[in-house]
Amino acid sequence: MENVFYVEHPLLKNLITKLRDINTEGYFFRKFLSEVGRVLLIEALKYEKTIEIEINTWIGNSKFPALDEEKYVFIPILRAGLPMLEGVSEMLPKSKAGFIALKRDEETLESHLYYDRVPDLKGHTAIILDPMVATGGSLDYAIKVVKHKNPERIISLNVIGAPEGLERVSKNHPDVKIYIAQIDKGLNDKGYIVPGIGDAGDRAYNTD
Ligand code: PRP
Ligand code: URA
Repeated sequence: MENVFYVEHPLLKNLITKLRDINTEGYFFRKFLSEVGRVLLIEALKYEKTIEIEINTWIGNSKFPALDEEKYVFIPILRAGLPMLEGVSEMLPKSKAGFIALKRDEETLESHLYYDRVPDLKGHTAIILDPMVATGGSLDYAIKVVKHKNPERIISLNVIGAPEGLERVSKNHPDVKIYIAQIDKGLNDKGYIVPGIGDAGDRAYNTD
């Protein structure tokens, strides 16, 4: 899994423990997902090339390094990926966003697309946001949808993954860099990550 980057940091462990706690209310659950997204983005763009832009400073005009913010398109997978959008957008306020909605059939564990509002991605860096990689079916599907829009490259930011799901996506999409904050033991017989955080969409929106 050469394209899977396990981002380990005490602050991430701390946030993930809060996410695992069933007493964490939806509002804070969304905030913590957003924070994990922000930390993953920092890691994913660690070696990113900057451009020189001219700005006005208190001692006159001058050129300084900056990111070409408009070339980044964040793509949260609804529902559970949506809270991650806030944290990452705060870091790159000129970035764009596209949306994909997928629902996993809880019997067959297959994902179904019910909304695709991803713009043309030519010349852009697509950054997919989804907290969970369980069987990997949803992320695999999302990457296929994104690839149809011809991005320059694809990065995926994910909070918790099961080894089997990560292997599947890594194998099917070796060209996609996957940044994950926690790799758990595996899946239970219903396809949920153990220990995991439960159903992330329900937890985020208090619909359990
Ligand atoms: C969750 C999660 C992932 C998917 C992961 O979404 O946000 O998209 O399950 O499972 P997989 O790796 O086995 O495909 P879900 O389908 O529950 O929809 P929701 O976000 O609307 O709750
Ligand atoms: N989807 C979730 O939200 N959680 C899991 O553990 C698996 C799929």
